[in-house]
Amino acid sequence: MSVYILGIESSCDDTSAAVLNDTLVLSNVIANQQIHEKFGGVVPELASRAHQQNIIPVIDTAIHDANINKNSLSAIAFTRGPGLLGSLLVGSSFAKAFALTLNIPLIEVDHMEAHILAHFLQDEENKKVPTFPFLCLTVSGGHTQIVKVTDYFEMEIIGKTIDDAAGEAFDKAAKIMSLPYPGGPMIDRFAKTGNPNAFQFSEPRIPALDYSFSGLKTSILYFLRDQLKKDTSFIEKNKSDLCASIQATIVSILMKKLIMASIQTGIKSIAIAGGVSANSGLRQAMLDASIKYNWEIFIPKLSYSTDNAAMIAAAGYFKFKLGKFAGQNQVPYARQSSR
Ligand code: KG4
Ligand code: ZN
Repeated sequence: MSVYILGIESSCDDTSAAVLNDTLVLSNVIANQQIHEKFGGVVPELASRAHQQNIIPVIDTAIHDANINKNSLSAIAFTRGPGLLGSLLVGSSFAKAFALTLNIPLIEVDHMEAHILAHFLQDEENKKVPTFPFLCLTVSGGHTQIVKVTDYFEMEIIGKTIDDAAGEAFDKAAKIMSLPYPGGPMIDRFAKTGNPNAFQFSEPRIPALDYSFSGLKTSILYFLRDQLKKDTSFIEKNKSDLCASIQATIVSILMKKLIMASIQTGIKSIAIAGGVSANSGLRQAMLDASIKYNWEIFIPKLSYSTDNAAMIAAAGYFKFKLGKFAGQNQVPYARQSSR
């Protein structure tokens, strides 16, 4: 029997809806919220309001683009957390009401697990998907984790950040340089024409497979403060080299622990996921590592790296097959630890 899942994602500042036929993507609609740009970061209150405005048109478009009737839907999957509570409430409340109206099951999805399960989405013929077990470096605006994936919902976090996430490191570095929000893609863009060895920033010494990025932010801050005292246009003159050097440092920190994780676990099937997996420096480093360490690598399409509902629907599909449904009393959670 063919399964049609509607996925709804509203954990941060993107309202997204997608329809899958099994794992085949029929539609994936994303409404970005420009409103946060002028505040230099996501304003939770404004994000919830924008979700309220966007959710109906986005879901309507996703169902329309998928060329199906809403009565054909088998289940509705929604992001339960982690994320901004006000934003999550919009998506989860809508999902509950819609599932009730259509009299179909409701499925709750963890946003971080969904980033990983995005690797199982099919939208091209013979797409290669990972086989278990594999390691996934999950890097987003709020999380940085090395996850050992032994089954669709058997995921063990074997390394994580003890402070900032990798995406936060990108965004904070960009903010220090007065680049517009979101900073990650801006740094990536300027880094393309810069010299990654122009400036050296020290890397943290954290035991085992854990990460730390708060020291890097401080070292960039102090370095720029000293340089600006000597030359007020230092950032402007060195923008590309600064971006390339910062990006190279973050990528180097990420890759060292990932390589260590592969050696420790003996797993050579390696994936990346989450917003920062869109970074061209990280993607290149994965390609280099695949040759050097004989890894089989999995890099998501750009549209499935950053937040999207297709990944939520994918997680929903695998839960549907397992009969793992959610009750109407499910409440969102802000942090993965309070799941
Ligand atoms: O997964 P995501 O879309 O949302 C969260 O779940 O947090 O990740 C957003 C993060 C932001 O920090 C953003 O700056 C970063 O991903 N990001 C990038 C790039 N594209 C998005 N960081 C570096 N390079 C990129 N190309
Ligand atoms: Zn995300």
